[in-house]
Amino acid sequence: MKGVILAGGLGSRLHPLTKVTNKHLLPVYEKPMVYYPIECLVNAGIEDILLVTGGNSAGDFLRLLENGTDFGLKRIHYAYQRGEGGIAAALKLAEDFAGGEKICVVLGDNIIEKNIRKAAEDFEAQEKGAKILLKEVEDPHRFGVATIQDGKVLEIEEKPKDPKTNLAVIGIYMYDPQVFEFIEELKPSKRGELEITDVNNAYIRQGTMSYEVLDGWWTDAGTFDSLLRANEMVANGGANKMDD
Ligand code: G1P
Repeated sequence: MKGVILAGGLGSRLHPLTKVTNKHLLPVYEKPMVYYPIECLVNAGIEDILLVTGGNSAGDFLRLLENGTDFGLKRIHYAYQRGEGGIAAALKLAEDFAGGEKICVVLGDNIIEKNIRKAAEDFEAQEKGAKILLKEVEDPHRFGVATIQDGKVLEIEEKPKDPKTNLAVIGIYMYDPQVFEFIEELKPSKRGELEITDVNNAYIRQGTMSYEVLDGWWTDAGTFDSLLRANEMVANGGANKMDD
């Protein structure tokens, strides 16, 4: 399985921190934010990684990450996203890189305490479809929210005002190559973006979506509150731990 990190966007919820740099280059405790999703993929045994970014700071990623030697990688692949079209639009840029293989996609501002090794192995063994990871949260209205019935994902609602459950869909997604066909069929949402939740709902309708509930803490870091929380969680115990 190959890995894709989505590290574009305007980071507008973090202005003025993101006025002159990309959100994923901001510090989370002792490392730039983008280090954490890379470590997450490497810990899952994924060594072929594409980073998708855009905007004025794109060159800074190359200077920071170089060829990935600090992560034990032979190289890192880069793709440049023109403009901002949403998570699914950024993912479309990974089609050639994926080359017909399964992919694990990590949003560049998602940080986890432990690892996704078992979920990745389970997905490798899954014949086709997709897998999402869920986590109980106190503020589900900020996220994609999943409803589960009889061990299956029934639907995902993107940032519902009145969430039906407290199960957030975290920003780590595993897809088979059909993902690019589903992206092709998407229409922009009310906020003018191609939504990853619409991709996930297409797999759910097809009956090929599996899920696991993540062990250990998870946070995003795209708002002032969640960035502070991410710093505290990492400083208080560390992220991307290998031991269960
Ligand atoms: C995105 C997704 C959302 C998901 C979240 C995880 O939201 O749209 O479904 O729960 O990432 O971090 P965003 O942070 O882009 O608003």
